[in-house]
Amino acid sequence: MRKGILLAGGSGTRLYPITQVVCKQLLPIYDKPMIYYPLCTLMQAGITEILVICTETDLPLFKSLLKDGRQWGINIDYTIQAKPEGLAQALILAEPFLDGSPSALILGDNLFYGHQLQATLHAANNMTDACIFAYHVANPQAYGVIEFDQHKQVISITEKPAIPKSNFAMPGLYFFDHKACQYAKNVLPSHRGELEIVDVIQQYLDSGKLNVDILGRGTAWLDTGTPDAMAEATQYIAAIEKRQGLKISCPEEVAFVMGLIDQQQLTLLANQLIKSGYGQYLLSLLNKNFPNEMH
Ligand code: G1P
Repeated sequence: MRKGILLAGGSGTRLYPITQVVCKQLLPIYDKPMIYYPLCTLMQAGITEILVICTETDLPLFKSLLKDGRQWGINIDYTIQAKPEGLAQALILAEPFLDGSPSALILGDNLFYGHQLQATLHAANNMTDACIFAYHVANPQAYGVIEFDQHKQVISITEKPAIPKSNFAMPGLYFFDHKACQYAKNVLPSHRGELEIVDVIQQYLDSGKLNVDILGRGTAWLDTGTPDAMAEATQYIAAIEKRQGLKISCPEEVAFVMGLIDQQQLTLLANQLIKSGYGQYLLSLLNKNFPNEMH
């Protein structure tokens, strides 16, 4: 069974002073904490064993928000990242938790939304080899950049290149086999002093075990790295939620729809939040019968 790693470490310096006291992944994106979004992405992939990695200071806050996950029919463990020394470090820290299992690593500030997303996530979860994604963006230099040949085969993956070879960025969601921890240990710190995730992915590419799935235009991958990006993500989520009357990345709803919790458990969760529209929304789900394609 694949296990999930949700990386919520980092110092958030690009958002100072907002993140001087509260960490980025606990900040709101419209009507819920940012970390709910990547958490739901893992759940929608069918992953129910999840490790949250955060700083020692933030640990009590994450624990008080997410608890042990049982309320949402999942299991959440925690590990401390003492210093933000790169995404690949998360795989090393997660080694005891993974205990030889394949993994899905997601960054705590990455938001995904789209019609075909759940099917895409399921397909990635069912793969034996590694799977990463590519997404067309206007500013590839801010990300890991994937270069393809005309047959959509990967030629190179480069972290934040000054002159990007394509517009395809690599979102912060990676599906790995059981070798990820071992590959992460082979990585040396980059010029910015970090264990880069691209250096793990390069080893999968070299061994011919890397799939890259291009996320289509119908999928939204939103960044939350700057105050502007956060405000835009909030506006995007608000616009869609208000129009549809349905919430995006609501863990209670995802758990209910996936059959991880029952009506009684959902009612209990709703009653704890009843003074907000969020709690009312959860109650409204009890009487809904969604056709499958709406999940
Ligand atoms: C990290 C990764 C980068 C990836 C990005 C996605 O960058 O290093 O390859 O494209 O996440 O959010 P960061 O934004 O953490 O510097």
